[in-house]
Amino acid sequence: MIPPTTPATLPGQPHIAYRNGKLFAEDVSLADLAREYGTPLFVYSKASMLAALAAYQRGFAGRDAQICYAMKANSSLGVLQVFAQAGCGFDIVSGGELARVLAAGGDAARIIFSGVGKTRSEMRQALDAGIGCFNVESEAELEVLNDVALAAKRTARVSIRVNPNVDPKTHPYISTGLKGNKFGVAHERALGAYRRAAALPGLQVVGIDCHIGSQITDATPYLDAMERVLDLVEAVEAAGIAIEHIDFGGGLGIDYRGEAPPPADALWAQLLARLDARGFGRRRLMIEPGRSLVGNAGVCVAEVLYLKPGEEKNFCIIDAAMNDLPRPAMYQAFHQIVPVAPRDAGTVASPSWDVVGPVCESGDWIGRDRALAVQPGDLLAVLSAGAYCMSMASNYNARGRAAEVLVDGAQASLIRRRESAADQMRGENLLA
Ligand code: LLP
Repeated sequence: MIPPTTPATLPGQPHIAYRNGKLFAEDVSLADLAREYGTPLFVYSKASMLAALAAYQRGFAGRDAQICYAMKANSSLGVLQVFAQAGCGFDIVSGGELARVLAAGGDAARIIFSGVGKTRSEMRQALDAGIGCFNVESEAELEVLNDVALAAKRTARVSIRVNPNVDPKTHPYISTGLKGNKFGVAHERALGAYRRAAALPGLQVVGIDCHIGSQITDATPYLDAMERVLDLVEAVEAAGIAIEHIDFGGGLGIDYRGEAPPPADALWAQLLARLDARGFGRRRLMIEPGRSLVGNAGVCVAEVLYLKPGEEKNFCIIDAAMNDLPRPAMYQAFHQIVPVAPRDAGTVASPSWDVVGPVCESGDWIGRDRALAVQPGDLLAVLSAGAYCMSMASNYNARGRAAEVLVDGAQASLIRRRESAADQMRGENLLA
């Protein structure tokens, strides 16, 4: 049900708020942006991104730390530029992501390259760019990276991603640090992998890393993983192999529907206390947050096309779909959906709607059983849409990908124009 007086600030959305009954991103009205650029439209708040980053920066104040934005969360060039200008490094997982960081002005030396399936050509591209570190995920990858580095007459700086076998208690598709996951080198095999890496002439061991999953809202799995990783650092160093940096993987979860993850600085106060206690507090520390830096900085504005009341379900059909917002279809994820300009309570009926898109799949839903007072032509904002939405968007049903706007105070910049049919067909050939 729409609250009679809409709250000034929405949960988890400090810079996305109602002003006089209209939803704004910082000082820009979302309705004005929708009129100018059309819908569906992603809108991001730069202040929100920088505020999220500042919480990590406060957490690491006085330490030798590097924050590498996990750009898979949102790899649009304008977003990357914000983090590059703020001094971030980047966690990449493909040659395409590497090209994007470089195009956005990111510093190659602060790039770390994760992923279980790096190809030889991606390795070569990253070596030529001079990236900071390869996060190697298997013994087989060590051998291939060594070959590629020797052939390129370069040395690859490596960290081994260890799988700490810790349950992050999140959705199974985004848990990555359990024994049954494809990621990382098993804890028991890690020392052997380090010995091998240290013996390969094309590699230089520089670090250790782990990543246990995403949308984690509790400190315990981080603490457990940290203890396991530190045990390994001790074992590896006892074998005479120095570890310069320790990388703890992705960042915190965010508030989609009342989740209350600890603030980044509070989490790191706890983790640093443990690191200090074990004598590792002065090591170079790295993290790879994605979702928590951009998730609640973004919304997707969509227009209500049709209302379709039915016997069992009422459908509110909007112009954004699973190709724009894939998380509900993929993970049954929840995104809050609010009107851009709420109608006065009681002026239209507000039954419970299933908010769905135009894609020809029953899995194309964005929100289920939402009490909304809406009419065709109204604008809705799908909240917490800054992470893993545009970066996972597709052209399914030959739908062009949405436009994106980045707001900074009263200024709105179009950082990606709406994809046209011609854009979509570029690169295809008709048969002779
Ligand atoms: N580092 C590595 C090696 C990762 O695999 C990931 C995310 C991150 C960092 C960033 O984690 P974050 O700070 O965002 O939690 N598409 C899913 C999320 C997949 C996350 C995969 N790895 C979703 O929409 O929920």
